[in-house]
Amino acid sequence: MSLLSQLNEEIACCQDCDLAQHRNRVVPGEGSEKAAILFIGEAPGWHEDQQGRPFVGPAGHFLDELLDSIGLSRKDVYIANVVKCRPPSNRDPLPAEMRACRKWLDRQIEIIKPKMIVTLGRYSLAQFFPGDAIGKVRGRARKKQGMLYYAMYHPAAALHQQSLRRVIEEDMLRIPSLLAEAEEVEEAEPEAKQLSMF
Ligand code: URA
Repeated sequence: MSLLSQLNEEIACCQDCDLAQHRNRVVPGEGSEKAAILFIGEAPGWHEDQQGRPFVGPAGHFLDELLDSIGLSRKDVYIANVVKCRPPSNRDPLPAEMRACRKWLDRQIEIIKPKMIVTLGRYSLAQFFPGDAIGKVRGRARKKQGMLYYAMYHPAAALHQQSLRRVIEEDMLRIPSLLAEAEEVEEAEPEAKQLSMF
């Protein structure tokens, strides 16, 4: 059994916050254990809680389209969430719930070792850059402790606010070149800290 499957079994038994009382299914995440890109959303919604899979509702359909626009599918990347269980009535996750769930995200990152983490929405952004405003930093790639982070609006934002759809689509289209540049710099100069496009 792969390390990620073992981890997902552990996550499925988690009782570390109150969300465990309300969930139907745990939603650990899915995709390739060798993914170069890890997308991190906020929390499972109703559809995800029913199926135990991330991003399978309307926001997920848009995420699938976005992946397709850069020639990728779910099996090429890894998709996870900040919290692995659905908050009741789709409310925002609470700070204590995010704190309790953080260890799972950290272990997913440790196992997958992605080249790039794409945060989807403000809760995901706040896990790595607390205090940053998503409206200011979206579309910007940054390196922190050797990891490339890229902030995007949550795909659901486009469903509520049509004007954001284009912004999200354009931000997605920049991912391949950012990743390629990060990989080139890594190969050429292992110690390189700065990439020209950041
Ligand atoms: N929204 C999220 O943030 N994650 C999901 O898995 C589905 C919707």
